[in-house]
Amino acid sequence: MSKAYPITDHTYDCVVVGAGGAGLRATFGMTKAGLKTACITKVFPTRSHTVAAQGGIGASLGNMDEDNWKWHMYDTVKGSDWLGDQDAIEYMCKNAVAAVHELEHYGVPFTRNEDGKIYQRPFGGHMKNFGETPVPRACAAADRTGHAILHTLYQQSLRHDAEFFVEYIALDLIMDDEGVCRGVIAWNLEDGSIHRFRAQTTVMASGGYGRTYFSCTSAHTCTGDGHGMVARAGLPLQDMEFVQFHPTGIYGAGVLITEGARGEGGYLTNANGERFMERYAPNAKDLASRDVVSRAMTVEILEGRGVGDKKDHINLHLEHLGPEMLAERLPGISESSKVFAGVDLIREPIPVIPTAHYNMGGIPTNIHGEVLRPTADDPEATCPGLMAIGEAACVSVHGANRLGTNSLLDIVVFGRAAALRARDTLKAGAEQKPLPEGSAEQALDRFDTLRHAAGSKPTAVIRDEMQQTMQSKVAVFRDEKILTEGQASIDAIKASQDDIAIKDRSLVWNSDLVEALELENLLTCAQATVHGALNRTESRGAHARDDYPDRNDKDWMKHTVTWTEPDHGVKITYRPVHTWTLTDEIEYVVPKARVY
Ligand code: FUM
Repeated sequence: MSKAYPITDHTYDCVVVGAGGAGLRATFGMTKAGLKTACITKVFPTRSHTVAAQGGIGASLGNMDEDNWKWHMYDTVKGSDWLGDQDAIEYMCKNAVAAVHELEHYGVPFTRNEDGKIYQRPFGGHMKNFGETPVPRACAAADRTGHAILHTLYQQSLRHDAEFFVEYIALDLIMDDEGVCRGVIAWNLEDGSIHRFRAQTTVMASGGYGRTYFSCTSAHTCTGDGHGMVARAGLPLQDMEFVQFHPTGIYGAGVLITEGARGEGGYLTNANGERFMERYAPNAKDLASRDVVSRAMTVEILEGRGVGDKKDHINLHLEHLGPEMLAERLPGISESSKVFAGVDLIREPIPVIPTAHYNMGGIPTNIHGEVLRPTADDPEATCPGLMAIGEAACVSVHGANRLGTNSLLDIVVFGRAAALRARDTLKAGAEQKPLPEGSAEQALDRFDTLRHAAGSKPTAVIRDEMQQTMQSKVAVFRDEKILTEGQASIDAIKASQDDIAIKDRSLVWNSDLVEALELENLLTCAQATVHGALNRTESRGAHARDDYPDRNDKDWMKHTVTWTEPDHGVKITYRPVHTWTLTDEIEYVVPKARVY
């Protein structure tokens, strides 16, 4: 079958799939280390979803108040509801200050204090002295921090002469008979050509899968492409049931209003004008961890205290902060409130609702970015030749719930870690074995079958069924009945892919086919999410079960490992959470009740 598709071959030391912050940081780090590196991306690098991150990057610089990386680590462990691996969290928080200074030296235009130091704002769950009182830890470039970081990292990539393959769709990994990843097959949208990238190491930096939900803050490109490729290669996904709902998506539009808005003094009210967070989190109030605030808002709405005609959302107030401050610190959300909600936030509150925002789960890795293929005997076993970083990965620093600003931190710290690992373990230009016979065949057969699919269901119909199901059955609150219904629906919707209809057969700019490929990846993620959620009979972080309201450390302090099977089935195994730290500079944070 693949004879029908002439193949252009490339050989690199490293191939990175994805050009968001993690992908770019890895790409130029590897290039800088003398490794010939290609970055394959389905959108122009500066359009990657990192551009949408707003409020800041977390690091205990202590520019506004005393701070300490150990407090940052404590908050991250607590935020993760003790599902995060503490060695990885230590690595991230300890490296955070250097990572931000590195970004500063690369040219990120951070907002400045009077004394010229980087401005930091309070954010949810950022506390001093091991959880006592809020501390400003989010290093901000107004409310466009992701934009500033992404553009700077792209400039660094150009400076290091990294090679980009833009508007190339990665189709599948190339795996050899020994289970080693040998590269990736990609389709060039511009001219329809097929490319085979052979590499010593392949890095999945392909982002999250927010688009499994109907309402999300994620870009349309966040379709779990790396997750899908990894699952098709027979490798597992981890902790997929943990999906973060950001408290303040614009009602009806899903567009993000940064948590930095509450960090600057904004607050939430219900239909009675009550600042209800005081009841749910007496200490941190509106700056409690995201899962806590999202649940509180959902309870207010479910109990009839939502605002608006349908009483189905909440108000976010910033009017009292004054036009000058809003223009200086929150210009981006001033604009998006006007465009997407028709609200002038100087005068009126913004209508908001918890909105799917981030995937804590993903492709399991160790702290070097190496992908895990855990076995019962060795839960830390790796898959040679394959790495994953950023939101695509689960290292796991976010556990059951991510702290705001730790995503930008994750991408630069682990993007760099992957580059360092490649530098230390690979030899530039080392001879690579020939690829196995027919190495592109399976990927191209799948591609060709989909391209010619003449079933009865358009991609958009199947996608809508999936998104509506995830939105209504796998959301903020879950229980056995609703998850069982959700699982049956998602399994059936996934099987209905076999009846998909593709209108356009062309190879050039065929967006119908691109969306169908993305849908396959999304459905793999949706299925792992709902199966993991139904199986986990406890509440932890973003996974809140009405029928099992408590965290159960005895039975459930373990990572869910989901394996996709060929017949649309799913197998679940578990691996232990790391209950150790990386160094003896800090002790393991012992689990306790999570109160804000
Ligand atoms: O609210 C925000 O600005 C989002 C930040 C994050 O998800 O880390």
